[in-house]
Amino acid sequence: MISLSTAQRARLAAEPSAADPGAFPADFRWGLATAAYQIEGATAEGGRGPSIWDTFAHTPGRVRHGDTGDVACDHYHRWRADLDLLAALGVTDYRLSVSWSRLQRTGHGDLDPEAVGFYRDVLGGLRDRGIRPLVTLYHWDLPQPLEDAGGWPARATAERFADYAGRVVGALGDLAADWVTLNEPWCSAFLGYGEGAHAPGRTDERAAVAAAHHLNLAHGLAVRRIREVRPEARAGITNLITDVVPGDDTPADRAAADRLDAAGNRVFLDPVYLGEYSPAVRAAFAGLGLDDLVRPGDLGVIATPTDFAGVNHYQRIVARHDESAGRLRVAQRPADPATTSFGWSVLPGSLTAVLTRVAKEFTALPLHVTENGASYDDYVDPNGDVADVERVAYLRGYIGAVAAALRSGVDVRGYYAWSFLDNFEWAEGYGKRFGLVFVDYRTQDRIPKLSAHWYRRLISTTRPET
Ligand code: NOJ
Repeated sequence: MISLSTAQRARLAAEPSAADPGAFPADFRWGLATAAYQIEGATAEGGRGPSIWDTFAHTPGRVRHGDTGDVACDHYHRWRADLDLLAALGVTDYRLSVSWSRLQRTGHGDLDPEAVGFYRDVLGGLRDRGIRPLVTLYHWDLPQPLEDAGGWPARATAERFADYAGRVVGALGDLAADWVTLNEPWCSAFLGYGEGAHAPGRTDERAAVAAAHHLNLAHGLAVRRIREVRPEARAGITNLITDVVPGDDTPADRAAADRLDAAGNRVFLDPVYLGEYSPAVRAAFAGLGLDDLVRPGDLGVIATPTDFAGVNHYQRIVARHDESAGRLRVAQRPADPATTSFGWSVLPGSLTAVLTRVAKEFTALPLHVTENGASYDDYVDPNGDVADVERVAYLRGYIGAVAAALRSGVDVRGYYAWSFLDNFEWAEGYGKRFGLVFVDYRTQDRIPKLSAHWYRRLISTTRPET
């Protein structure tokens, strides 16, 4: 069990619960989320080969402070205690990812038996604790040999992913019913190959657009392969969906917002849910080769029906026309008063807006908020507590925003707070803390923050029978 200090008990008692807990059905999925490279460590053990994130993080200047995922939260060695902690927090669901470069180090051939054994242990451990897994097949850790062969800009990588997905669902699918193919392909394509802020760190707009199409294709091919291997499995994709609004109500700012929406949201939503790259998407990428990449049949594959839609939501962006901005970008104006330590807006209504929009414009599938959360400058106080009152307020607001969507008829089935643990925040290294559980990286101690206790209490109030 997790204990509360006297000081923390008093703080928790003073924190109101979420607005409108009655909006959530008894079978709503209350989860926490993580990703393999961000928590596992053990990058040279258990079958693990190098991924693009190992290469990137070990390249000087790429990640703040020179941090790497070599150790991260050492979850690879501490998974049992971590699962006990998850159970103590009362979650019904847990979203994790499996590492491609652990399961299939070259991106080809048989899965590594030790890696399969590790994930079978973790998934079996979740089952033993009554926690349902949602497993992401790709959370950004492309095996380095596949990058060396061209990476996501190469069409063959989509085929490799489908092969890998089929093998993994074959090997683990008796322990997990729900599968996410890709996590936030926008980041893989545009941060990875366009801006170069993420692995593999390339800066080539044409390559980024090619990566985007091949990620979409990889998703569709993988869903088909998963259906062949395990017809009973449920599959979907998780997209980052940002609420984009024009700075001023002028034609120029509205056009800037539409362009950003097309290049950031619609390039993934349109083909998966509507079976097309809309004129807005084609216009956003004009001259960057999208039309040449799309082969007959691709759009049908990408639109292969799925079972749910994953929504990751972090911020609202205010777009403003700027002549000097590059073609894939528009100037963004931070116009929001409250922000996280990342500078991301704290506006719960943006989550309601995004969920409502997806349901109205893109799909009638059940929605899962597969990630939502905030980084703050958390620290251990003299009582030994982490009193992250900002995160409690954030969660209260955003979970209230999910309640508002439910009340207006949007079919939301689950909410997975990002993240279970503080972890390796990509290019920001360990400097940004998103966890509901604090990690002391020196000792690997875990300290549930006030938000973890708050979340546990909320879950119990929405599930009165348990
Ligand atoms: C979305 C990504 O999926 C996750 O890996 C990341 O840590 C969070 N955003 C926060 O940036």
